[in-house]
Amino acid sequence: MPLRTLAGLLLAMTTSLCLAEVSADAAVLYQQHCASCHGAERTGAMGPVLLPESLSRLKPAQAIEVIKFGRPSTQMPAFGAQLNDAQIQSLVDFIYQAPAVSPQWTLADISASHVQHVDPATLKPTPQFKANLENLFIVVELGDHHATLLDGDTFEAIHRFPTRYALHGGPKYSPDGRFVYFASRDGWISKFDIYNLKTVSEIRVALNTRNLAVSFDGRYAIAANYLPQNLVLLDADTLKPLQIPETGSRVSAVYTAPPRNSFIAAMKDLKEVWEISYQPDIKVRRIPTDDYLDDFFFDQDYTRLIGASRNGEKGQVIDLDTGRKLAELPLGGMPHLGSGISFDYQGKPVLATPHLNQGKVSIIDMQSWQVIKQIETLGPGFFMRSHDASPYAWVDVFFGPNKDAVHVLDKATLTIKETLRPAPGKTAAHVEFTQDGRFALLSIWDDDGAVVVYDSHTLNEIKRIPMRKPSGKYNVYNKTRYQRGTSH
Ligand code: HEC
Repeated sequence: MPLRTLAGLLLAMTTSLCLAEVSADAAVLYQQHCASCHGAERTGAMGPVLLPESLSRLKPAQAIEVIKFGRPSTQMPAFGAQLNDAQIQSLVDFIYQAPAVSPQWTLADISASHVQHVDPATLKPTPQFKANLENLFIVVELGDHHATLLDGDTFEAIHRFPTRYALHGGPKYSPDGRFVYFASRDGWISKFDIYNLKTVSEIRVALNTRNLAVSFDGRYAIAANYLPQNLVLLDADTLKPLQIPETGSRVSAVYTAPPRNSFIAAMKDLKEVWEISYQPDIKVRRIPTDDYLDDFFFDQDYTRLIGASRNGEKGQVIDLDTGRKLAELPLGGMPHLGSGISFDYQGKPVLATPHLNQGKVSIIDMQSWQVIKQIETLGPGFFMRSHDASPYAWVDVFFGPNKDAVHVLDKATLTIKETLRPAPGKTAAHVEFTQDGRFALLSIWDDDGAVVVYDSHTLNEIKRIPMRKPSGKYNVYNKTRYQRGTSH
């Protein structure tokens, strides 16, 4: 063997030995300092899950900060005095690495996690406060893991309550608007009774969850999960698990399709769309597709699905009855179809969607499936909203230097009517309308943030309600009636 190869081999061996040592050390450090709160298998306990799937929104440099300095006014302690920089770095490498054996979360684990906080028999059947029940909002405050029930007539908070860590994918209402269901990143589903202002029950369905949907008849809730790779169908009344379709793919999202009495699920790793119907009984249908589709929009009667993949250049229109592809859409730049809206333009329904990595809004004719206009914006956007009673559609500029701007688009001309900067330097994002469409509520997405209420016609600011990093706002009427100006 030539000497150089031998030297290379030796070097490689020592490096890999060192790496193994580091990770062995890190595993020991982890068990010593972290496991009591984050779980021996990193699957969470009092503290959140520390697995790669869970940490996708936290940069390793931020993780170093968290471990060194802790998180003020939370239970996460500072380790800067006990651990040196190399040890902290090794812990960060460790938590961003998938464990050799993927952790399990079985039906037995799910069932055992069920918590009944309140005996349902003690709950009053009528609201314990006075308000227009159809114009209530739930506002999610990510900053300190709370939610606020907001009166949409007076813009006064009725109640503020703690949620699970890192809610994900938007809460969903029961059809009568009495209950609201939350999903958290770490797999907790919580059922909150708005009439009684109490969390009734909770269950942990997975180790990493994307979102949740509630059936049109209110009987079922279903969670889309990355870890394990499955869907978990629950009885919406008791939150007890009913079925667990294993998907063999991460499930990006699950949606309710009201007229179909079904749920539609998006697969990250399969060229398929899944439909889970629940009438007369529960049945899974797999629809093969030409490409990966992991983000959806539906037409108002849920016969057509408009899907795109996060890295493709084309969207697809699928007929859900026949399973056939009807059209392809030239849609590069990661359209965020899940937050797309529709409205009438020159007498015809159009779909409007922001893009996650290009500064534009695409307007698509929903009869010919042609892109009829691309409106240039100050940067990539995340959320888009309108209301049938409003002449305007709002789109944020979530990513990039103009994240503090929000565009108000004129639906009649497809042009930017006004650009607002409600809090210079702070992210302005996610608009939701009141029931009647007269007011638009916008989040200042910051720890020292607010919900800003605008008159949706004059665009004058009406009120500013301080909140801790408010993200989404969810109006009972607009959501339970599947209004086309809001996402479902
Ligand atoms: C006493 C309990 C406790 C201990 C011990 C603990 N943590 Fe935490 N940790 C928490 C809690 C609670 C949070 C969530 C804080 C919040 O609300 O933002 C957290 C958050 C974190 C986060 C941020 C997660 C995210 O999603 O943003 C990281 C990273 C982390 N901890 C790493 C560690 C490491 C590494 C150790 C061991 C060196 C450790 N923690 C020890 C309780 C703990």
